[in-house]
Amino acid sequence: MKFLIVFATNSGGTDSAAKHLSSTFEKNGHETTLVNPKDVTAELIAASDIIILASPSWDFDTKEGQPHEDFNGMLTDTEIQKYAGKKFAILGLGDTSYTYFCGAVDVLEQFVKTVGGILIAPSLKIDGYFSAIEKSNDMITQWAGTLLSSL
Ligand SMILES: Cc1cc2nc3c(=O)[nH]c(=O)nc-3n(C[C@H](O)[C@H](O)[C@H](O)COP(=O)(O)O)c2cc1C
Repeated sequence: MKFLIVFATNSGGTDSAAKHLSSTFEKNGHETTLVNPKDVTAELIAASDIIILASPSWDFDTKEGQPHEDFNGMLTDTEIQKYAGKKFAILGLGDTSYTYFCGAVDVLEQFVKTVGGILIAPSLKIDGYFSAIEKSNDMITQWAGTLLSSL
């Protein structure tokens, strides 16, 4: 299977999480491509079997719980037909001390619905990635197993 892992980061957590996810898929014999949302093309979408969207939650325009701003172009893309029928899964990093814990996940789930994508598993929300990196990466490994068994 070909996984396209679309991710953005502010302080490095989602970068580390996305790379851990990528190496887990590769250890299981799958191909992965890691890409920033701004660099996603119709060709990359067409070439992938499963698209993972991974984002921290942040506040923009005084709104809490938003995806990384690098997702803005993708979220407002009007050429949505390229996403129709594609399989998706969503990974969010956040912190429960904020009002909208992993609010970005809700926004990205809505995006998948809007573009006619298919969510293949419940989204994974990780609280305080860097404060428990080993535990967080174990959660990601387990989630990757759930994704693979749903295919
Ligand atoms: C300014 C700021 C705003 C944040 N807003 C939220 C939020 O609304 N909801 C949430 O769950 N986490 C929030 N967080 C926590 C980050 O999402 C969390 O630290 C995440 O692991 C950062 O990922 P990154 O290292 O990939 O940037 C915020 C952090 C900062 C510094």
